[in-house]
Amino acid sequence: MNILITGGAGFIGSHLVDLHMEKGDRVIVLDNLSTGSLSNIEHHTDHPDFTFYEASMEDWAELDDVVSAVDLVYHMAAVVGVKHVLESPTNVIGGNITATEHLMEALAKCNSTASVIIASSSEVYGFNEEMLFSETDDLVLPSTDRLRWCYAFTKLADEILGFSYYHQYGLKTIIVRLFNTVGARQRARYGMVLPHFIAQASSGDPITIYGDGKQTRSFCDVRDTSRMLYTLIQKERAYGQIVNVGADREISINELAQLVKQRANSNSEIKYMDYEEAYGMNFRDIVHRRPDLGRLHDLTGCTSELSLEDTIDFLLNISKGQ
Ligand SMILES: NC(=O)c1ccc[n+]([C@@H]2O[C@H](COP(=O)([O-])OP(=O)(O)OC[C@H]3O[C@@H](n4cnc5c(N)ncnc54)[C@H](O)[C@@H]3O)[C@@H](O)[C@H]2O)c1
Repeated sequence: MNILITGGAGFIGSHLVDLHMEKGDRVIVLDNLSTGSLSNIEHHTDHPDFTFYEASMEDWAELDDVVSAVDLVYHMAAVVGVKHVLESPTNVIGGNITATEHLMEALAKCNSTASVIIASSSEVYGFNEEMLFSETDDLVLPSTDRLRWCYAFTKLADEILGFSYYHQYGLKTIIVRLFNTVGARQRARYGMVLPHFIAQASSGDPITIYGDGKQTRSFCDVRDTSRMLYTLIQKERAYGQIVNVGADREISINELAQLVKQRANSNSEIKYMDYEEAYGMNFRDIVHRRPDLGRLHDLTGCTSELSLEDTIDFLLNISKGQ
């Protein structure tokens, strides 16, 4: 099969590349390397079944030609990370909404038989107060003048684009709402919590918690996430659906800091930093975030196989160079 992975030099995208290369597929990666890195895919670059294009999707003239010959598309490219979004909100519009529209237009014009996964985010649930976030829930988002939420609004626009092309052109679109994904190759640079904690615990620096640490998240290992996406994209029943993807064990950021410290056998102290200091802007954070994974399980039978402890130990070993 021929696979296009946008954002394939990034964290999640590069694991999808590994998976499809292992299966013997022909893989094309399109990435502008804004947050991704060639080092994530360099082990494939000499392979005859692997092609890399360095380009920004929103204005890339060759997109029509490239999509015309693919069977599956994973659209993972996006401007991500709260810090990144606060630094350059206008780039988020082009990198997320315009890029997605360009992709869907190209598919509608040149290849309406390819299946496409569009990566959305659990952020779109906003201040939903349900204990489990389900795909059928109403979305509770703040006023559009809160720039912190710009990313979530662009992901919602991507979802609407996906559904519009599904209904109007019959494109085989699946929207995935990814919950916190963790693992090798994730960068700390744009405010991702686990890589920060691993680096701080490994070096003995203070582990820095933003806010009061009572906020909870559910973390899924990227190897599980990519297996779930790989299985989902092949399910016809998933076309035209939103599907939560992640793990449903909930943990507070305070507990996460303690867990990393304990598994690293680290003497790091735990410190708190308010959002103003961390991001240069104060904002109300999401208190908890846990997915209802019933639909994912019903469609794919997949559940997460790796525990958070497995992931932390794996990342600590990488940071020790083992
Ligand atoms: N990691 C998570 O926990 C998480 C959670 C929810 C949703 N997501 C979504 O999953 C997708 C992948 O996220 P990730 O964590 O791997 O991030 P990432 O930053 O590692 O990957 C995104 C990739 O897209 C590339 N890119 C960005 N804009 C581009 C453009 N206009 N044209 C071409 N390439 C472009 C970047 O260089 C990068 O390689 C994103 O759509 C993100 O919104 C991730």
